[in-house]
Amino acid sequence: MKKAYRAALLRFDPEGRALYDEDGLLVVGPDTEGRQRVIDAGSHAAVAPHHVDVAVTDLPGRILAPGFIDMHIHFPQTDIIGAPSEGLLPWLENYTFPAESRFADPAHSAEVAEVFFDELMRNGVTTSLTFATSHPASVTAFFESAQKRQLRMITGKVLQDRHSPDGVRDNTEQSLVDTETLIRRWHNVDRLGYAITPRFAPTSTDAQLQGAGELAAKYSDTWIHSHVAENKDEVAWARELFPQARSYLDVYTGFGLMRERAVYAHCIHFDDADRQLMRETKTASAVSPTSNLFLGSGFFDFEGADRVDYRYGLASDVGGGTSFSPFATMLAAYYVGREGQTKPGVSIAPSQLWWRHTGGAARALGLEGVVGNLQPGCEADFVVIDPKATPLLARKTALATNLEELLFAMIVLGDDRLIERAVISQALPN
Ligand code: GUN
Ligand code: ZN
Repeated sequence: MKKAYRAALLRFDPEGRALYDEDGLLVVGPDTEGRQRVIDAGSHAAVAPHHVDVAVTDLPGRILAPGFIDMHIHFPQTDIIGAPSEGLLPWLENYTFPAESRFADPAHSAEVAEVFFDELMRNGVTTSLTFATSHPASVTAFFESAQKRQLRMITGKVLQDRHSPDGVRDNTEQSLVDTETLIRRWHNVDRLGYAITPRFAPTSTDAQLQGAGELAAKYSDTWIHSHVAENKDEVAWARELFPQARSYLDVYTGFGLMRERAVYAHCIHFDDADRQLMRETKTASAVSPTSNLFLGSGFFDFEGADRVDYRYGLASDVGGGTSFSPFATMLAAYYVGREGQTKPGVSIAPSQLWWRHTGGAARALGLEGVVGNLQPGCEADFVVIDPKATPLLARKTALATNLEELLFAMIVLGDDRLIERAVISQALPN
């Protein structure tokens, strides 16, 4: 059965420009498989006459917007947010690997997966490209919980067969067998997707990277998910380990790990040849500014990315990142955009930041027209925003004289309190 929601409505056009109807109507209904999709969206005056028989839920004072997409997050790092460290490599050794070793236990994996999804929902994140751990049990726990909640979610078993301590290090051959078994079990089941996930080049042997590339070719609509060029010590280490590669990024090309649906977190210490390689291979960056600021990794070059025009979107990178909230990530991206700017002026426009965490992230993931927008045909994952969620937000959003000011007020002052509810596209019997 069709349903309609009347509220302010935020969508994006194919160029990534924001479309906003102060008095909007969102009409959703089941497709042939019973999955709830957007049927119509726009101003109430234009849309309502076409749907006179549809029951309308009035949401006065609320804004409906696409569910956020987090392009890079680690569900097993939920409990290590805010772990202090001099930088990436000691942080991995002292906090991350010990915490991740616990995910050999299916019960622990299942417990943290529930906490993780509850937190995503409270923050309005309806899709994420997610690191699990090297233990297949962590992947199973993640997918089982996501499936029960009917979420569109992507994860994969981490591959790390060297330079990793006992408890997280895997075995080359077994890791590839496990990856293929998990792809066959979960990829494209309901709304779930599999990501082939080498942790980063320094913790995989050539044989493991080679095997990952072969699986990526065999299962060409899976995702590839890794890290690159985050931290200067990491870059130096990668160059020592792979002296034949032109750059750290180039290591991945050599193993067939750059293609559409390949996503690399960070991409900070790049030159233009790296950026060109991203563009040519249709590979995407997951820009993780709260993590980069917290771990002192550096500043993503937004100008460089736009100049070369390759795909990127925003990500929290929890637990290197400091917040599940897309508002915190967008604000940090704004700061980083200012820092890296060569021309004077403001940083990234608020509507662009928002697009990079919704429709633009969907495009970078190869999911344009599926999630991240509220245009007809998209799956109906959306957030109900209460712009008066706190006294200061109420004052500030009431003072906004245009859309950019309204979005910026929420980016600067907002957190999980802004998200009244996340609505997930359900598959209902027709
Ligand atoms: N590089 C390799 N592993 C990790 C990780 O878990 N987090 C971050 N931020 N960078 C990494
Ligand atoms: Zn990460």
